[in-house]
Amino acid sequence: MQGYDNTSYGEAFADVYDDWYSDIGDVDAAVEALAQLAQDAGSLPIVELGVGTGRLAIPLAQRVHPTAVIGVDSSAAMLDKLAAKNFEHAPLLVLGDMIDSLPEGPLGVVFIAFNTFFNLGSEQLQRACMQAVAQRLSPNGCFVIEALVPEDPPRTGNSVDVKSLTRDRVVLSVARYDGDEQSAEGQFVEFTEAGGVRLRPWSIRYTSPSQLDDMAAAAGLSRRHRWQTFAKDAFTPDSTRHVSIYAPN
Ligand SMILES: C[S@@+](CC[C@H](N)C(=O)[O-])C[C@H]1O[C@@H](n2cnc3c(N)ncnc32)[C@H](O)[C@@H]1O
Repeated sequence: MQGYDNTSYGEAFADVYDDWYSDIGDVDAAVEALAQLAQDAGSLPIVELGVGTGRLAIPLAQRVHPTAVIGVDSSAAMLDKLAAKNFEHAPLLVLGDMIDSLPEGPLGVVFIAFNTFFNLGSEQLQRACMQAVAQRLSPNGCFVIEALVPEDPPRTGNSVDVKSLTRDRVVLSVARYDGDEQSAEGQFVEFTEAGGVRLRPWSIRYTSPSQLDDMAAAAGLSRRHRWQTFAKDAFTPDSTRHVSIYAPN
């Protein structure tokens, strides 16, 4: 999408993110699974890539204190939302790109949730991210990716859906899918009686679970687990999501 960069998503969605996406997963199960992995890794720093408003990093930081939780995000608006929340043990925050601004290692657990890996808009960037993480993981560390399983056959074409509709406000979800390019992009278009039009763009380049395994292997990581969810439900051919755990060879 022309003009779209690594700050576009966060800057556009920060004001509505917690309202729109509060129910996207089992936070308690994610925190428990990540805390266990961190303990196995020797309580070294935990890093969340694309930490957003802290949906996972905040409760995780309370759970694993004094182990450090570091959140990296390229959007100042998202990090401002996180920092404005009340909590006892603060995640450390890094404003920057998840590849270029990844903290130095050795790191215990690096994780990336809710399809955020697919915000890296090309195979090249996704491979670079894998490499950067692999270089910093401790030998007992791991990289955790939570992501969707692409539809088979992949979705292609355009769609317009109604996200919400009230007397004085409508939000339309407009999207374009390209199965050959493994990409999807769209806009949430908000019209209000009082405030005109607001655009919230998104763009992803998705990969299949096996393509992720290949990228990980090229970076020197091998898959230790694949669950359907952070609650460790078994991953099956019918799963529409996965949580994959990669560790140094
Ligand atoms: C879908 S949100 C996920 C937020 C949070 N991890 C969660 O699970 O609720 C994606 C986040 O990744 C951030 N992001 C996107 N591309 C990024 C990049 N290249 N480097 C760092 N952060 C990025 C966005 O600003 C946004 O906060």
